[in-house]
Order: sequence, then C-alpha cells, then structure tokens
Amino acid sequence: MPGKIPQSFIDDLLARADIVDVIQPRLPLKKSGRNYVARCPFHDEKTPSFTVSPQKQFYYCFGCGASGSAIGFLMAHDHLSFPEAVETLASQYGMVVPCESQASTDPQAPQRRGLYESLYRLNQEVAVFYARQLRQPVAEKAVAYLRQRGVDGGIANRYGLGFAPPGWETLTQRFDPALLQEAGLVSSNEKGGTYDRFRNRIMFPIRNRRGQVVGFGGRILDSDGPKYLNSPETPVFHKGKEVYGLYEMLQASPRPPHIIVVEGYMDVIALAQHGITNTVATLGTAATPEHIRLLFRYSDELVFCFDGDRAGRKASWRALESALPQFEEGRRIRFLLLPEKHDPDSLVREEGTEKFGVRLASATPLSEYFFQSLTQDLDLSQMESRAALSKRAGKYLRQLPAGVFRQMMYARLKELTGIQSVKSSDSQSGNLPRSQLVQPRLYDRMAALLIHHPHLYSSLPETFVDQVHAGIHGEVLAQLLNILGEGNDWTPAMIIERYRDSPHRGYMQALLSQGEYRSLANPLAEMRDAIHLLQKRNLQKRLEVLTKKADVGNLNNFEKQELKKLMAIQSAKPEL
Ligand code: UTP
Ligand code: MN
Repeated sequence: MPGKIPQSFIDDLLARADIVDVIQPRLPLKKSGRNYVARCPFHDEKTPSFTVSPQKQFYYCFGCGASGSAIGFLMAHDHLSFPEAVETLASQYGMVVPCESQASTDPQAPQRRGLYESLYRLNQEVAVFYARQLRQPVAEKAVAYLRQRGVDGGIANRYGLGFAPPGWETLTQRFDPALLQEAGLVSSNEKGGTYDRFRNRIMFPIRNRRGQVVGFGGRILDSDGPKYLNSPETPVFHKGKEVYGLYEMLQASPRPPHIIVVEGYMDVIALAQHGITNTVATLGTAATPEHIRLLFRYSDELVFCFDGDRAGRKASWRALESALPQFEEGRRIRFLLLPEKHDPDSLVREEGTEKFGVRLASATPLSEYFFQSLTQDLDLSQMESRAALSKRAGKYLRQLPAGVFRQMMYARLKELTGIQSVKSSDSQSGNLPRSQLVQPRLYDRMAALLIHHPHLYSSLPETFVDQVHAGIHGEVLAQLLNILGEGNDWTPAMIIERYRDSPHRGYMQALLSQGEYRSLANPLAEMRDAIHLLQKRNLQKRLEVLTKKADVGNLNNFEKQELKKLMAIQSAKPEL
C-alpha cells in the first residue's frame, strides 16, 4: 500500500498546475471573458455551461453543479481515485509524488515508480512500433486477414492494432533488453539469450483506463502455436484487474448506459466495427470481482455476452458468482446467451447491428438466469429437488447485499420451493424497532411508503424533491414523486400500472409486495422520520464535500459561506 500523500505536496502541486492545461486536452475550451467555457462532460447539454476559471483554478458547471479543482476534474473525468489523480497531475508537471511512510517502510518505492514509468513508456513505444509494422509490406497477410474479418483502418487505428513481424529479435534490436524482459515482451532461451515473445501475430495493445499500454495480446496468423498469446503478469499488467477495450470505450462514451462484457479481443473489435462501442473483454480469464467493480464505476448495467458453447455458459456463471456480492440496488446485470457455434463477433457480422441490439434488449436478467441455471436439472414437483434448490440457492443468495433485490430473490426462491422458513436476514424488518427500519435504504423505504400510502405525498415538504439526489435510486424516487404530483387520487394499483412499460416495474412491484408497509400503524410518522434522516444525511454529505475541498484549500467564497452556515446548523443541533 502506498503511504498517505503529504498535504504540503498537494498544495505545491495545485499551485504549480494550471487547471486550463489539465482540462484543455480532454475538453476543447473556448475563451469567454476571463474564463473558459465548454459543453459539460458530466451531463448532456447543447449550450456550454461548463466554466473554468484560471483565476480561481476551479471549474464549475451551471447546468449540473459539478465543480472542483484540477485534481477533482481528473478524478471525475478520467475516473481516477484521489491518489491516481494526484499522480497523473504530478507527472504532467514533472513532479514525483512523495509518500509520508515511504522512507521508513518502503525504501524501494521510488525505484519501483521509476520502473513503472519505464514499463509504460516501453510498452507505448513497442505499441507504436507494432502499429507502424502493420503498414509495412511485411504485414501484407495480416492486413488481408483483418480485412477479411471486416476490420477497417479506422477501427485498427482506434484500437492501435499492430503487427509483430516474424523475426526473433525484432524488439531486442531496438529496445532495452532488460526492460523488454521485465515487460514480458521477450522470453529467455537456455543459453541465457532472449527472443521475441510475439512473432508473426496481429497485436492488440491492452490499455488501462488512463490509456497507458500495460500489455499485449497477439493473434496468430497461420496455425503455428496457440491462437492467442497474452503478455504474462508484469508489474504493470494483471489480467484479473484489466479488461480489454476499456480505454477505447470510455473515449467513445464516458458513462455508457450499459457495458457489454465479452470474451474475445475480436469480439470487442467486431462490435466496435458495427458501431457498438461500449464493449470490453476479459483477458482469457473468467470475470473477476475486480473486473466487475471496475466496470460498475462507469455504468450501472453490465451485460455479459459470452459464446454459445459450454465454455461460454461456464464463463457466464463465473461472472454471476463474481458479481453477486456487488449487486447493489440500482445496479443491473443481464446475460445474453448466444446461439450455439456463435460468438458476439460472428453473430453481429451475420445479423447486423440492429438484430444484435434486439438480442441485447432482451437479454436475461440476473434473477431469471440464476434460477434458470439452478433448476435446469431439477424436477421441482419432487420434494427432494425443491430441498436441493433451496440449498443451492441459499449458498449464493446469502452473498447478496441487503436490500429489496435480495428480498425479491428470497421471495422467488420461496415460491419455487414452497419452503416457508427460507428467510433473508433483512426480511424480518417487521420486527425491528422503527429507527433501525429507516437505516439501510432510505430511498427504497420512502418509495415503498409512498406506493403503499400514496396520500402521504400531500404531507411532503415542498422542497422535498430537491433533497433527493441524482443516482439511480434518487431518479426512481423523483420519478415516483412526479407521478404522484399529477394530483390523481392514486391507489397502489394505479401507480404500478403507470410502470407497465418501465424498467423499474420489477422494483416497484417488489416494494409493493412488502406487506409490512401496508400494515404500518403510523405511516405519516415513518415518512417524517425518513425525511428527517435524509436531511441529516444530505447535510452531512455536503459538509464532507466542503471540508474535503477546504482541506486542499479549494473553497470559493460562496462555498466558504455555505460551509460556515452548515457548521452553524450542525453545532446548533447537537444530535446530528
Ligand atoms: P476466443 O477464441 O473466443 O477469441 O477466445 P476470439 O477473439 O473470438 O478469437 P477469434 O480471433 O475470433 O478466433 C477468447 C479469448 O480467450 C483468450 C483470448 O483473450 C481470447 O480473446 N485466449 C484464447 C487465449 O488467451 N489463448 C488462446 O489460445 C485462445
Ligand atoms: Mn471469435
């Protein structure tokens, strides 16, 4: 673990950096008076309301309220963690990030950082070299092969495709042999010499989300050796953590509505060639929990689209296993099971983009896929089978985070098995004291209260909707408030009817199926509690944001005043 970055360094860095330099390459800025403006990268807009102030070294969007320093911008725009953003900014200004704990615990750290930098640089240079080779006569066959598979120059460029020539020493003649070895680009022979790992292969550079080349995949042209060779694990390349195509996907859409996860390099390329750019591939491994965590940073929905063979089905199940513990409310996972003998590449080429889109739209939700897979060899009219299902499913469902989805899954299991005693730990909420009830999923709870008791809407404070934050849960709640605000005499059934064609229908139905809400003695008091808690949380969240900014000396005058006010409110209410 790297140590904490000293505050003094962050101060120095922000003093030296110019936010305009940082944003400009990522987002064309136009000068407007003292400031710069652009269309906001964080929300959809036609007229630019994203403003960068070189004086304040601060950006602000009048449309969506996004704001922050150069570091904040890198975090939001490049999807980086704080230390990563500091690192990126520092390297742009030729500064080296120190670590407070480094001197005592890790004397190797600076050398290691030096090594990382050299490896990134080498990989990048080798990628450029391979890409140039693809344009040389030596790559004639490779180019013909790509053409025949429908890959054009534009896509080859976007993904930086290249060609490793047939020689054994192509790289060693041009690059530092020791570093090549460290990067896994050469292998050693018995005599202690080295030879190129990739020979006569079409090369796929693997980039991390910052666009640095961390490794390569290489596809064979004739039938000599394994079809694909990948870089081995190196200090900068870990198969279980990287996915192919992430950087290119984020270039096309930083917040895709869903991400398609496929198995092969060529699947990513073929889908991109057909205009489907939100696709990534695992690198010859099953999808790991880390892959899934990474991808959920960019989208709330993942669609696993694996080959229609046995291996593909196995890969789907492995992905499900990796995903379950991270399957929080608002996230969606679906499985697109392809016909036998097809992979996404062959299918999209055979059927075209539109039909592939239709398949995608009808991909199987995780819940359905889960029970389908677990019951396919069971005859549920037999008691033994139902018991077996209960046991099999329990093992997985326990891993789901608490919430409505987990309750729904247990409810479905109960339906299938007829076993009443199957209970999720949080389905007993009826027995808990009221204060604890409000805790886990505030928005779920509010939505449930409103569905079961639509008249509560009239008791909400007028500013309530403003308190509801963006994000999938907030949006669902805000939408429900909109519907209720239409002023009808709503009944739960009428509300559900409004969701007939909505993706949130299942969620709403799950809320409605929670009988304990209907029988509440005092729904109004519950709602008031929930609102109070929401206000408290919002206040705390805003305080956190502002104090964090204050820590890096980044508050503008408005924010300073706001912070003062919030602190005052907080200290006036000691129970907060
Ligand atoms: P596939 O054989 O499905 O890949 O293997 P593909 O991209 O569809 O290949 P072609 O070009 O259309 O025939 C899926 C993934 O498994 C890994 C690679 O990452 C590949 O993209 N793999 C496959 C290997 O690492 N080595 C192999 O020999 C084969
Ligand atoms: Mn294929």
